[in-house]
Amino acid sequence: LIEKVLDGFLPGEDEFPQALHKAMRYSVFAGGKRVRPVMAMAAADVVGDGSADVTGVACAVELIHTYSLIHDDLPAMDNDDLRRGKPTCHKVFGEATAILAGDALLTLAFAMIVCKTSDRPSQAIMSIKELVGAAGSFGMVGGQVVDIESEGRDIAFPVLEYIHIHKTGLLIRAAVRCGAMVAGANGKELDALTKYGDAVGLAFQIADDILDVEGDTGLTGKNVGGDAKKGKATYPAVIGLKDSRKRADELVEKGISALEILDDKAEPLREIARYIVKRKK
Ligand code: IPE
Ligand code: IPE
Ligand code: MG
Ligand code: MG
Ligand code: MG
Repeated sequence: LIEKVLDGFLPGEDEFPQALHKAMRYSVFAGGKRVRPVMAMAAADVVGDGSADVTGVACAVELIHTYSLIHDDLPAMDNDDLRRGKPTCHKVFGEATAILAGDALLTLAFAMIVCKTSDRPSQAIMSIKELVGAAGSFGMVGGQVVDIESEGRDIAFPVLEYIHIHKTGLLIRAAVRCGAMVAGANGKELDALTKYGDAVGLAFQIADDILDVEGDTGLTGKNVGGDAKKGKATYPAVIGLKDSRKRADELVEKGISALEILDDKAEPLREIARYIVKRKK
């Protein structure tokens, strides 16, 4: 469903300016796992009766995520040449087009909510507000800045947590919250899901750091071991692999316990939490 909606919404490759639209499509359809949209839809299923169309917010989160990856890979940032098993966007289309493709995807994310959630205007506005917070300078972009500033430096644990919560955790939390809000969550449900999103969002980035150490490029589609070479502020670098694994497991348990007040309908979210630390890519 997500693939279909994204495909229908993104401008075609033959639309002018073609290079830009090709670059946007190249990165959006490069084989991402779609974890965030799936989480948005799973959260909606917990609280709603299935009648709300949450594809707008679910896909919007994926567009913001993809933009963040295009920029994350740029020479001025992580300088990576491999993403999702393919050459990074700037390697194929050049830096200027990659930067602009990211910009356009971020903008398109909000257009997607406006267009696809127009039958629920107050929920659409709540979601936009949520994503503005999660993606901006107090969210993902803030985390990315501190990540870059911390390269090659000894950093304290609270700074490490700030980086991980902001660069990755908050967008995952927003995916869960937006899905739930559009589907009409009540205060208690949203509270539980927010706690889940916080815990699992942080666990996701710890697992990403662990995969950078012990993953397989063939599976992750990223250059494994790159973070250590760059002197990145990662969990394994700061607290070691064993404690990183322990912390990720604890967070998954915390996320699952937060869902206690929700019934069997929350089982997919519980399984996604377990998958996040078990995944090989
Ligand atoms: C990787 O995210 C970058 C992080 C924010 C940790 P994902 O592991 O979700 O990447 P894709 O979308 O599946 O490629
Ligand atoms: C990515 O963190 C976070 C964002 C893109 C917001 P990383 O730099 O660890 O992600 P990968 O490992 O390159 O996917
Ligand atoms: Mg990075
Ligand atoms: Mg990176
Ligand atoms: Mg990483």
